[in-house]
Amino acid sequence: MEPPPLINLVDPELYSHGDPFVQWRWLRANDPVHWHEPAELPGYWSLTRYEDVRTAYRDHETFSSAHGILLRPADHGVDPGGGRTLALTDPPRHRQLRGVVDEWFTVRSVRALEEEMRDIARAVVGDALAQESCDFVTEIAARIPLYVICKMMGIPESDWQYLYDLTSKAFADGDPLTRRFAHLDIMGYFENLQEEKAADPGDDLVSALATAVIDGDRLSPDDIILNCDNLLVGGTENTRISAAGGMLAFLQHPEQWDILRADPSLLPSAVEEVLRWTSTATHIMRTAARPIEIHGKRIEPGDRVVFWLPSANRDETVFDDPDRFDVLRKPNRHLALGFGEHFCLGSMLAKSELRLLFDELLNSRVDIELAGEPKLLESIVVNGPESLPVRLTPRGA
Ligand code: HEM
Repeated sequence: MEPPPLINLVDPELYSHGDPFVQWRWLRANDPVHWHEPAELPGYWSLTRYEDVRTAYRDHETFSSAHGILLRPADHGVDPGGGRTLALTDPPRHRQLRGVVDEWFTVRSVRALEEEMRDIARAVVGDALAQESCDFVTEIAARIPLYVICKMMGIPESDWQYLYDLTSKAFADGDPLTRRFAHLDIMGYFENLQEEKAADPGDDLVSALATAVIDGDRLSPDDIILNCDNLLVGGTENTRISAAGGMLAFLQHPEQWDILRADPSLLPSAVEEVLRWTSTATHIMRTAARPIEIHGKRIEPGDRVVFWLPSANRDETVFDDPDRFDVLRKPNRHLALGFGEHFCLGSMLAKSELRLLFDELLNSRVDIELAGEPKLLESIVVNGPESLPVRLTPRGA
């Protein structure tokens, strides 16, 4: 047996300066249901193999979402969204909440937004070309997802820039206090907006939540605000990081960019590979609702079980040559968007946003090069570039 590396997957620095794949590879091969009791977090089981994660994902009766889906320090108490937001509820409540918002995320609804997304992509690439260099994360990748989710939520256009600044601070600022205050400002913003929408509903997501009736009851203002925050975060964070992580992968594997440039019909398959490769949602947690045994390890009710999605998506028993970035990969049944009951609500939207952005970059006849060292996020929740300095120039200039 290969000697075990030191296993500590909850060290945020591992994702900014280390290589978590060394640990994941070893765990998949040697200890696929691994117990870890870190100092700063409650103990948890790790699932690292694709089939184990997929099987657990399918079994929402054993693996509950209602106590939170991310590891959090015990002294932070219970997750305030537990039992209240779409992501943090189990059926039947989960299906009722999903029913309030899912029509906004169908193929048809997403298609109706594509012209606008294309316009945003064009403007964003144009702005980047006008500068000597820019940060791909904040100035290119962040804009389409944020503007689109703002529009879907019925946020007045005059506030988009304000929310753009707030979300950038809430997720990317180096100072935890600034991040926290920005989050509070976002909640405060939705507190006002949901009141306005309840009084004068429009054709948008916040109005849908503010007027929803489930089992004869309206959602409480807090439930509406928490769900709005969930949608804004869900709608922006992962897509932004995935687009930037995808661009970084193309810069590191220029032959893959050339393949795509020669045949843009490969874009949908390239987007799947970008999703698999970047697997930006690093961990997703569940809490066991009943005992279960996996590979001889007994998981007890109340135990936390963590799915490491980037590990599942590099499982060598499922993906040929998994550490190769390959826009032609087929099949590519990755788990980057989750699976089962809580499969990403915005999956169509995310794929469309990624496709349109890369399409614009391929079509606008620009050359893209690194203009500095990329910086990776120091987080156990999302992984990928925190900043990616690039220079865009007209092709061949
Ligand atoms: C590349 C981009 C994206 C990635 C990698 C991603 C990833 C995920 C994952 C892994 C889950 C499953 C969570 C779980 O199992 O508990 C999820 C759920 C969710 N995602 Fe996404 N997501 C992306 C884009 C989006 C977008 C654009 C939206 C738009 C609002 C969105 C909204 C949501 C929501 C609301 C849920 C909870 C669904 C539920 O619990 O039923 N996501 N996402």
